Amino acid sequence: MVTGRERACVLISLFVFSGASVDCGLQAPLSRIVGGANSVEGEWPWQASLQVRGRHICGGTLIADRWVVSAAHCFQDERLASASIWTVYLGKYLQNATSHTEVSFKVIRLFLHPYYEEDSHDYDVALLQLDHPVIISTLIQPICLPAPSHLFEPGLHCWITGWGALKEGGSNVLQKVDVQLIQQDICSEAYHYMVSPRMLCAGYHKGKKDACQGDSGGPLACKEPSGRWFLAGLVSWGMGCAHPNHYGVYTRITQVLGWMNQTMS
Ligand code: ARG
Repeated sequence: MVTGRERACVLISLFVFSGASVDCGLQAPLSRIVGGANSVEGEWPWQASLQVRGRHICGGTLIADRWVVSAAHCFQDERLASASIWTVYLGKYLQNATSHTEVSFKVIRLFLHPYYEEDSHDYDVALLQLDHPVIISTLIQPICLPAPSHLFEPGLHCWITGWGALKEGGSNVLQKVDVQLIQQDICSEAYHYMVSPRMLCAGYHKGKKDACQGDSGGPLACKEPSGRWFLAGLVSWGMGCAHPNHYGVYTRITQVLGWMNQTMS
């Protein structure tokens, strides 16, 4: 069961970079999340912090020079539903300090998936159009979007990142944790068949590593053998955080790509 409280939780973030000439998905050569570790500054160059009046609400992911993708549920409260109240931060590392790499944007248009459903969390995806294009660098860079045919195989280890709750309250330092992609039928059974084809589960049977409140909308990113990172999912929901047999549930990007590409064109 998903409680009302969890349903009400809010997170954002997906930056969209479009255009064939824009590079994507490469980390700079560098060396909350429950059960994770501090990331290194610049390690996740597509991570966005979506804020309202100076407060981090959700994660997001840069996917093109003017586009960030996040979760629709971040905007479902009517007080959060208008584009103009949001500020998007890129190149951010600490929540309580300004990094020299950090840049901020206003949101000129906010799109929620037309099939988004609050109760089931189905189609939990939103696109934010930024007021000006971001200057791409090694420290601020879009993640690669998969092709519709891209297979993210069960068992693959991917990474989630965010400033969400470590236990209670948020994290100051951007956190990272690895999670394993879970077979659809196993997850579906664990969640009494509330897992739709637009959802993808990741985590561990024993729990312990997971996204949590404040991570919503942030990326589930998988590294391909080419060294590029692809967006597999968006932090969407889960029962509690990091509980045994209750995986994190993510919006399955390959299933909402059609709407994303149409909206950005
Ligand atoms: N709905 C939560 C939020 O908006 C995210 C929950 C993700 N939960 C999880 N156990 N993976 O912050």
